[in-house]
Amino acid sequence: PIIYAITPTFTRPVQKAELTRLSQTFLLVPNFHWIVVEDSPKKTPLVVNLLASSGLTYTHINAPTPPHYKLGKNDPNWKKPRGVEQRNAALRWIRNNLNESHNGVIYFADDDNTYSRQLFQEITKVKRVGVWPVGLVGGLMVERPICEKMTNKVTGFNAVWKPDRPFPIDMAGFGINLKVILEKKDALFAYDIQSGFQESEILKQVTRRDELEGLADGCSKVYVWHTRTQPPVLNTEQILTKRGKSSNVGIEV
Ligand code: UGA
Ligand code: MN
Repeated sequence: PIIYAITPTFTRPVQKAELTRLSQTFLLVPNFHWIVVEDSPKKTPLVVNLLASSGLTYTHINAPTPPHYKLGKNDPNWKKPRGVEQRNAALRWIRNNLNESHNGVIYFADDDNTYSRQLFQEITKVKRVGVWPVGLVGGLMVERPICEKMTNKVTGFNAVWKPDRPFPIDMAGFGINLKVILEKKDALFAYDIQSGFQESEILKQVTRRDELEGLADGCSKVYVWHTRTQPPVLNTEQILTKRGKSSNVGIEV
């Protein structure tokens, strides 16, 4: 199967660093198609150029988050869901451009996480909906499904943060076969739901808990980490910018 990885991304000082790190990991993955969705009214030159020179097979979309749903500068990040508009745009692209003759698995690959190449070997095993552990999320070293090693059946979850979520796992912890995305043709993410429930929102439309395929050696291996990049301190840059002397005039950072 081809892995279709959907990455929402938005303009900020660390964006090029994040996308560079990601693209160079993805170059290690065979049969990989990167769907990059910019949270912006137009495609930006930074992302256009990065993709063009990446050496990857990709699709570049832009889908701005409606202003009403956008996080304010000083809002805590749990106030509004992130990536909804972008992931839905990618699902629409998939449904408009792929069909039953394509063999694929969909994976939601946020631009700040850390991915091991072994993760992608697991993703290719997904028959309908596969799940696996995610490191450094939900206040735990690892948040994971509890699986029967022999059968890959999922018998529970170890989540402590909002354990009553229908599917208490992070976005990085599951993959969905393309045929399921095409069968359940209306399944999408949604805005007006409780924070932390995006994963459950899409999963409950496409599967049931007792159908999940527990991968990564019976859900015992961590191949993806929910890392988050600290925003850099740019106070000196702000002073220079006010004086018209930005350090990066004519230089893409
Ligand atoms: C957690 C989950 O890991 C996310 O997949 C989920 O979307 C999010 O919670 C949520 O509940 O909304 P977190 O690390 O807090 O993740 O989210 P971010 O990494 O900040 O954002 C997720 C993705 O959306 C990233 O790829 C990011 O670049 C993108 N994003 C973020 C935008 O496209 N626009 C924004 O304004 C902010
Ligand atoms: Mn993140």
